[in-house]
Amino acid sequence: MNPLRDHRAVPEPPRTPLALHHGVPGFQPTALRPAPELAARWGVGEVWLKDETARLGLPSFKIVGALWAVHRLLCTRLRVSPERTSYAELRQRLAGSDLGLLTASAGNWGRAVASAARWLGLRATILVPEATAEPRIHAVRAEGAEVRVVSGNFDVSVARAAELAGERDLLVADASEHPDDPFPGWVSEGYETLFAEIDEKFAASAEGGGDAEPDLVVVPVGAGALAAAAARHYGRTDSGTLLGVEPHEAAGAMASVRAGHIVTVPALTPTPMAGLNCGTPSATAWPALRDGFDAFCAIGDARAEHGMRLLDRAGVAAGACAGSVAGAVDGLLRPDACAGEAASAEAERLGLHGGSSVVLLLTEGVTDPEHHAKAMAGGRLVGEELAGEELAGG
Ligand SMILES: Cc1ncc(COP(=O)(O)O)c(C=O)c1O
Repeated sequence: MNPLRDHRAVPEPPRTPLALHHGVPGFQPTALRPAPELAARWGVGEVWLKDETARLGLPSFKIVGALWAVHRLLCTRLRVSPERTSYAELRQRLAGSDLGLLTASAGNWGRAVASAARWLGLRATILVPEATAEPRIHAVRAEGAEVRVVSGNFDVSVARAAELAGERDLLVADASEHPDDPFPGWVSEGYETLFAEIDEKFAASAEGGGDAEPDLVVVPVGAGALAAAAARHYGRTDSGTLLGVEPHEAAGAMASVRAGHIVTVPALTPTPMAGLNCGTPSATAWPALRDGFDAFCAIGDARAEHGMRLLDRAGVAAGACAGSVAGAVDGLLRPDACAGEAASAEAERLGLHGGSSVVLLLTEGVTDPEHHAKAMAGGRLVGEELAGEELAGG
C-alpha cells in the first residue's frame, strides 16, 4: 500500500478535451465491456473492461493523449486558443509547414505521435530502444514516420531524443524529468477523455440501480502519464481504490513510493509489457502518483501472459500491458488452494467485497502478434500454474 497517499493534495481533473476528440474524423468512445466470468472468478459484483484495443484505428489508448497534447503545443506556437481551434482548422493553418514531431517510444506512443503527425501533414521521427519487437517498429513505419533504433534502453532513447530536438523537430515526450515541462501534463489531460467515457457509462448504470463509481480501478503504469490522469480523476477522495501495475524489473513508481521521492530502477530486462518498461516515473506525473494511488503491484511476464489468456476468455484479444492488470488482479484475488486466506486479506486491503465493481484499463490490443500467439499457447487457466510466482506489492 502507498504510505504517501494524500487525497486532499491531488489536483482537480482538467476539463476533458472531448470536444476536440470528437472533431477528429472517425473518433468514437471505446467500449466498457462487462466481464461477468471475471467477476465470478474474483468474487466481486462487477468487472468492467475499458477496451482500448482499437482506438481511432490504432491498437492503444495513446492517440487520445497525443492528439490533445500536440494540438495544445501547436496552438501555443501559433498563438491561437486550443479550446477554440478545431483540429481541422489547425491542419489548415499548418499546410505547407516543414515542422516535424520527434519522440522516443517503445511503440504505442511513437505510433500515436506518428499518426497525429500524419493527420496534420507533419513529419515524424521516432526513436526506439534496441529491444523493441519488430512488429512494433513496422507499425510505426507504416504511419509514415522515420524510425531510428537506439542502442540502450528506453531512458537512453529519451535522452537521445532530447539531444536531437530543435525548432523544426519538436520534442513531444509523454514523460519528463523536469516537473514544469508542460507537454507530458497535456498528454495526461488528453487521457481524461478515457475517464469521462467511463463516467458516462457508470452514470447510465447508476440510473438503472448500479454503482455510480468503480470501487477499484487498475492502471498499468509506465512513465505515469496515464496513471496521473487516473489519479486526478479518481484519487481526490478516500473512497474507491486505485491500483497501479508495473513489471518487476521496471517498478519505478513502486520504488519511488517506498523511497518517498523519485528513484530510478535499471529497467534493463526486455519484457513483452514494453510500454511499461520504464525505470523512472515522469517528474510531471510523480506528485499525482504519490498522492493519488492507494497501492502498486509488480508482476512478472508469466503473470501478464496469464492475464492475456483470461482476457481472451472474456472475449478481448489484448497485449501484455492489458494482460498485466488482469493478471495482477487474478494474483491478488483468486482464492485458490495455495492462496485462499491471503487472497481474502488482499480483497479487504483493496476495499473489495461481493458487491464491488472493478474497472480494468485494457490499454493495448495485439501489438506483438508473435508474443500474443505464444501467450495463448502457454498454459492452463488455473491459479495454481503461477502459485510459485512472487507478486510484490507496495
Ligand atoms: C499499452 C500501454 N499501456 C500502458 C502504458 C503506460 O502509460 P504511461 O507511460 O502513461 O504510464 C503504455 C506506455 O507506453 C502503453 O503503451
